[in-house]
Amino acid sequence: MDWNWNSFLFGGVPYVFIMIAIVGTIWRYASNRYSWSSLSSQFLENKVLFYGAFPWHFGIILILLAHIFAIFFPGVVLAWNAEPVRLAILEVSGLALGFLAGFGLLMFIYRRLTDSRVRAVTSSWDVLIIIVLIIQVVTGVLTAILFKWGSSWFAASAVPWIWSVIVLQPDTSFIANLHIITKIHIFNAMVFILLIPFSRFVHFLAFIGPLQYVFGRPYQLVRWYAPRTRRVPNIRQYK
Ligand code: HEM
Repeated sequence: MDWNWNSFLFGGVPYVFIMIAIVGTIWRYASNRYSWSSLSSQFLENKVLFYGAFPWHFGIILILLAHIFAIFFPGVVLAWNAEPVRLAILEVSGLALGFLAGFGLLMFIYRRLTDSRVRAVTSSWDVLIIIVLIIQVVTGVLTAILFKWGSSWFAASAVPWIWSVIVLQPDTSFIANLHIITKIHIFNAMVFILLIPFSRFVHFLAFIGPLQYVFGRPYQLVRWYAPRTRRVPNIRQYK
């Protein structure tokens, strides 16, 4: 692979960011696992938060699931899109979800700007995170609007690039010709991954917690607590 800006940003940097994110996550879990949250400000202001949080999470989670689905089943997406009506349904639904997430984000920003109590607890990290999210949603929606049938070419060109990175054979030629707006979208997604362990994005990993229930949680250890002076009854004597 020839080295140029493309291969540097999309063939080398992803590994640096992913390694930092993995080490950072382990460090944060080991050193301060009880800080894995998004530090709620709900008790300071709840109404606008609700109108932001619901559309934001509904929109962004479905969009992310769609991205992930296409990464694992690009053939299914392409087969679905082979029928123009189905392609239109997918694209319009994606756009609607993108706008929904964008609306939620605008509510978050409005809330942070207008509520003095929420503004008082807003850190530079929060500002950085909102900027990263705005860039992600705006470049995603612009990509969907400007470069038609993104769901198809995502499956045909972005997905092979993602897999080439996963199997440690980065091939940036798959995405070399994408527009700068889409490249910003892809690079910013890597910045998002990089920031996860160091910011309130870490609450995104909270899904790991309940997984232990799916894969069999550890046995519960039950102890008897009895005052030292009292004799623990010998159950055999009641038989
Ligand atoms: C943190 C991860 C990511 C988030 C939160 C995210 C978010 C979004 C959003 C909000 C949209 C707009 C949806 C729409 O209006 O249709 C979008 C579209 C898109 N994203 Fe992402 N994205 C992420 C990662 C990526 C990555 C890594 C790639 C490529 C390698 C990518 C490629 C695309 C493409 C091609 C579209 C346009 C889809 C279409 O036209 O239907 N995204 N994304």
